Amino acid sequence: MNADIDLFSYLNPEKQDLSALAPKDLSREQAIVELERLAKLISHYDHLYHDKDNPAIPDSEYDALVLRNRRIEQFFPDLIRPDSPSQKVGSRPNSRLPKIAHRAAMLSLDNGFLDQDVEDFLGRVRRFFNLKENQAVICTVEPKIDGLSCSLRYEKGILTQAVTRGDGVIGEDVTSNVRVIDDIPKILKGNNWPEIIEIRGEVYMAKSDFSALNARQTEENKKVFANPRNAAAGSLRQLDPNITARRSLRFLAHGWGESTSLPADTQYGMMKMIESYGLSVSNLLARAENIGQMLDFYQKIEAERADLDFDIDGVVYKLDQLDWQQRFGFSARAPRFALAHKFPAEKAQTTLLDIEIQVGRTGVLTPVAKLEPVTVGGVVVSSATLHNSDEIERLGVRPGDRVLVQRAGDVIPQIIENLTPDVDRPIWHFPHRCPVCESVARREDGEVAWRCTGGLICPAQRVERLCHFVSRTAFEIDGLGKSHIESFFADKLIETPADIFRLFQKRQFLIEREGWGEISVDNLISAIEKRRKIPFDRFLFALGIRHVGAVTARDLAKSYQTWDNFKAAIDEAAHLRTILQPSSDESEEKYQKRVDKELISFFHIPNMGGKIIRSLLDFFAETHNSDVVSDLLQEVQVEALYFELASSPLSGKIIVFTGSLQKITRDEAKRQAENLGAKVASSVSKKTNLVVAGEAAGSKLLKAKELDISIIDEDRWHRIVENTGQDSIKI
Ligand code: IVH
Repeated sequence: MNADIDLFSYLNPEKQDLSALAPKDLSREQAIVELERLAKLISHYDHLYHDKDNPAIPDSEYDALVLRNRRIEQFFPDLIRPDSPSQKVGSRPNSRLPKIAHRAAMLSLDNGFLDQDVEDFLGRVRRFFNLKENQAVICTVEPKIDGLSCSLRYEKGILTQAVTRGDGVIGEDVTSNVRVIDDIPKILKGNNWPEIIEIRGEVYMAKSDFSALNARQTEENKKVFANPRNAAAGSLRQLDPNITARRSLRFLAHGWGESTSLPADTQYGMMKMIESYGLSVSNLLARAENIGQMLDFYQKIEAERADLDFDIDGVVYKLDQLDWQQRFGFSARAPRFALAHKFPAEKAQTTLLDIEIQVGRTGVLTPVAKLEPVTVGGVVVSSATLHNSDEIERLGVRPGDRVLVQRAGDVIPQIIENLTPDVDRPIWHFPHRCPVCESVARREDGEVAWRCTGGLICPAQRVERLCHFVSRTAFEIDGLGKSHIESFFADKLIETPADIFRLFQKRQFLIEREGWGEISVDNLISAIEKRRKIPFDRFLFALGIRHVGAVTARDLAKSYQTWDNFKAAIDEAAHLRTILQPSSDESEEKYQKRVDKELISFFHIPNMGGKIIRSLLDFFAETHNSDVVSDLLQEVQVEALYFELASSPLSGKIIVFTGSLQKITRDEAKRQAENLGAKVASSVSKKTNLVVAGEAAGSKLLKAKELDISIIDEDRWHRIVENTGQDSIKI
């Protein structure tokens, strides 16, 4: 047993759930255990948040953990751990971007949640400076932007370096990335800036840009971001600035780091100077002379929060006088002269009216809660995401329940609690059919999502599938891109793959379409005609069956050689699956394993396990899918893969293509070579067996001659391919 666990059970013998106890009620032993738990938990969330751009819990819950940690430490100051979150700024940077040490540390802010925390802050200032009753403490007030802090270094007015906060000591070099942000001047305006000044602020993404980005990501089948902050972090911390450039980031300055001189003697004055250099500074920045004004400002901003186009999570107060800032100083983690006054999470109660299922473009079924409209933080919310069936189960929600709704990261409303779990109501079952096309929905082992299996016919997925169908690695139809598919689909010109091959019947109609003409239509039709014959593996891959990628399709094609053989095997396996019945003493899991085992040995294809087989059988079991395939087979001819790779004289040989090929692309040549069992290399060496020289071949050809390697021209290559590798050539 591990020593830690021993100590744990010793200190907390009853294994009590300490998280339910208030900090003041903890015994010393319990505090030790609880502080350790919090340190580990918070560091885990830090890691997810900073390194993975993936917050696992809402900020408000995270803040509550940090606050609890701090409160316990206030009761037991001698128990503060070296790895306590109160001693750290953030987690270490962890991307492949170069690391840069900050010249002046980039610290965090102390948080307050209650008006009392603001009073305590002012009390600390008053005591420290020994102020009289009537002496005012002036503070700046401004929104706390939920972005990603960044330090911009200007030398002689020129942007020379940009670094993220990282762990406060070492950050990541994002200089080339920030150069594409419009809000960040490459050269400062005017000429009365300090010789060197590091301007610090937040890189963030506007809510409107965030929604547009996520819509684009979904469309391109890429990861969507949980909130604008993560989208901003993910977009800034890119190795390729071109990606950053497409992401519409903004910057708002809120301070400075190293500076060779200070052009003003107040925080407010400094920010106005920074604004005059051409950087954006919040137009909500103001000065407050007493606690009343500070709290008024807080309330005013909170009321405006929902209408701002960027996420904020509180306001920040800073002592205005720079000499006071300096005297009051810093703790290891944060400036003492500033306080972040956070907003409470925005929550409201309402009734769950219904659970609807939305089908995404890749077939994922997402449950959406339909709510009785309720105002949450100034915004009317009538639906919330439920993520997946696990989440519904976790919450135990059913239509009719009262629920607690929260706007997380200010964007996507979420249900955080079922307030009526005990009311007698039937459990809500996740549907096992797609609500759009009625095909069977499946959830695979180890996956959370249910997916519709009707890929080719499901209206929600068709466009995506058609795009895959014509893509370069599938049918490779030149000139039929995503935008064409989308518009042809919208106009019902192409609804299934077979329609593509019937497009020629609409030639005249197409010619009259906007943006098309005789030449472009004829080019498209001839590109389509070229693909009426298609190798078996490409055909299978083009169907877009889940888990049947190019490699699996090839393995299947090699094994069955003709489509008919393959289809017969599928039918037989489907039959086998239906006759394998569970025995009475067998668990569901055991039965599934037995079925998988039988099917795997039936197909007997290396690397083809139960998951792929189930997916194949499910696909063909749907009559809609089989119909689409049969219809397509009326239009195209699937070519068999007859030759035996091992017997090809090219099998195992290394081939280099050089120069430009006239009849086929490099990709196709590579594929042909691989079909014959050869490997394709990009450079000529002693190991090369054959060089195929196209037109204007250069250095590789010379090298091949030098090394006395067999060289053939493109025509000869085509003869070899046509003879499926049989040629008199000796290599
Ligand atoms: S002042 C010494 N002002 O909040 C750090 N920070 O939770 C002084 N932040 O790392 C920071 N808005 O990135 C300041 N108006 C604002 C801010 C702000 C957002 C960020 C900042 C800091 C984090 C701390």
